[in-house]
Amino acid sequence: MAMDSLIGELFDNRYRIERRIGTGGMADVFLARDETLGRRVAIKILAERYAQDDAFLERFRREATAAAGLSHPNIVSVYDRGQASGTSYIAMEYLNGPTLKDEITSRAPLPEAEVVNWATQALDALEFAHRQGVVHRDIKPHNMVLTDEGRLKVTDFGIARAANVAQMTEVGSIVGTAQYLSPEQARGLDVGPQSDLYSMGIVLYEMLTGELPFNGDSAVEIAMKQVSDPPPSIRKKNRLVSEGLEQVVMRALSKDPALRHRSARQMAEELRRVSRGGAASSDTQMATRILTGGAEAVQAYTGAQTSVLQPPARRRPRGSSRPGRAGARSPGSWCSSCSSRAPPSATWSTSSSRGRASRCPSSAEAATTPRPSSRPSGSRGSAGTSSRTLTRRAR
Ligand SMILES: Nc1ncnc2c1ncn2[C@@H]1O[C@H](COP(=O)(O)OP(=O)(O)OP(=O)(O)O)[C@@H](O)[C@H]1O
Ligand SMILES: [Mg+2]
Repeated sequence: MAMDSLIGELFDNRYRIERRIGTGGMADVFLARDETLGRRVAIKILAERYAQDDAFLERFRREATAAAGLSHPNIVSVYDRGQASGTSYIAMEYLNGPTLKDEITSRAPLPEAEVVNWATQALDALEFAHRQGVVHRDIKPHNMVLTDEGRLKVTDFGIARAANVAQMTEVGSIVGTAQYLSPEQARGLDVGPQSDLYSMGIVLYEMLTGELPFNGDSAVEIAMKQVSDPPPSIRKKNRLVSEGLEQVVMRALSKDPALRHRSARQMAEELRRVSRGGAASSDTQMATRILTGGAEAVQAYTGAQTSVLQPPARRRPRGSSRPGRAGARSPGSWCSSCSSRAPPSATWSTSSSRGRASRCPSSAEAATTPRPSSRPSGSRGSAGTSSRTLTRRAR
C-alpha cells in the first residue's frame, strides 16, 4: 500500500485522510477528519514492513492500549486503534504545533525559564505515566509537541516498547534514538522510570546548549559514550546557565539509575526550586561530583555512601542477617516506599559482591543496602557490553 495514495481516501470507513504530517522510524502520520465524530485527528499508520511482523503487531496493539489509558493534559490523547488496508493504525489528538525538536533546532540555547517550563510539563506527564506502570522508553524532543496555548504534550507513550526491537534492526534509525538512550538501554537491559529521567536529562542538556552531550558516526559509538563518558560541562557551553540547574541535569545523566532523581516529580520540583535561585540538594551535588569528578570523586563517594545512602541502623529490619538483601524485591512488584512499580532494570551488582539484588532505584536514598555500584566512568566492561549488544541488534 503506497501511503500517498491514501490522501483523499476514507480510511477504515471512518477517517478522511487530508494530508501527510510527517514520517517517523516506523510509521507515517496523517491529518484526517473523523467523519463519525466530526473532528480532526492525527492517524499514525504503521509502515508496511512492520505490518507483516505478527509479533511486532501484537506489541504495537498491546502498547497502544496502554497508551490509550493515559488521560493527562500533558499527554497526547489516543482515541482509537485498529487495522485497515493490511496494516495497523492509531487515531489520536491532532496537535497543530511544532515539536520541541523544531524549537531547539531553530532557537537553542533556550532561556532558562522556558527550559524549566517545558521540562516540568514533560516530567508531569512522566510522573503520571510512571504511576500507572507505563515507562515511555523513547523520550526525545521529537516526541513532544507544543500547542499555541503554551502547553507541551508528550506523544508515543508505550509505542516505543513495540518499536524497540524492530527499530534496532535498522542502523539508520537507531542513530537518532541512540542520542537519547539511557546507559541501561544501551547495554540491552530492561528499563524502568529512571531511564525516562535520563532521556529527559539529554533533552534538558540540548535545550540549554543547542548540542547533544553524546554524538558520533554510529549508534554503537554513541551508545558507548552514554555508558561510559561524562557529559561535557553545560556552563562551559552556555555561561547563562546557573550552577544549580546544571547540577540537576547532571544528576539526571548519572550512569547509575539509583543516583538519578527518585521520581519525575522530585526532578520537576528541584528544577522549579533551582530556577527560583535555590541550591541543588546535597544528593544532586553528590551525583554531579560522581559523574564529572572522575576517579577521585568515585573514591570519595564509596567512602561517603554510609552517610549518604544508608539509613540509621535502627531502620534495618530486625533479624536481617544480611543487610544487602533487605531492599530486594522482584521486578514488577510495587515499592512500598515510593508507590511505584519496580522497574525490571533495578538490578545491579552490590558493592559487597554478595551477588545481585533488585530493588526500586526510587527508594535509593531511603532503603537499606545494597548500594548501587560506583563503577568509574570509562569502565571498559560496560562499554564492551554496549558494543556487543548494539552490534548484535543492529544486524
Ligand atoms: N498527534 C499528532 N499531531 C500532530 N502531529 C503529530 C502527532 N503525532 C506525530 N506528529 C508528527 O508526525 C511526525 C512523525 O511522527 P512519528 O512519531 O512517526 O516520528 P518521530 O517521532 O519523528 O520518530 P519515531 O518514529 O522515532 O517516533 C512528527 O513530525 C510529529 O511531529
Ligand atoms: Mg514520535
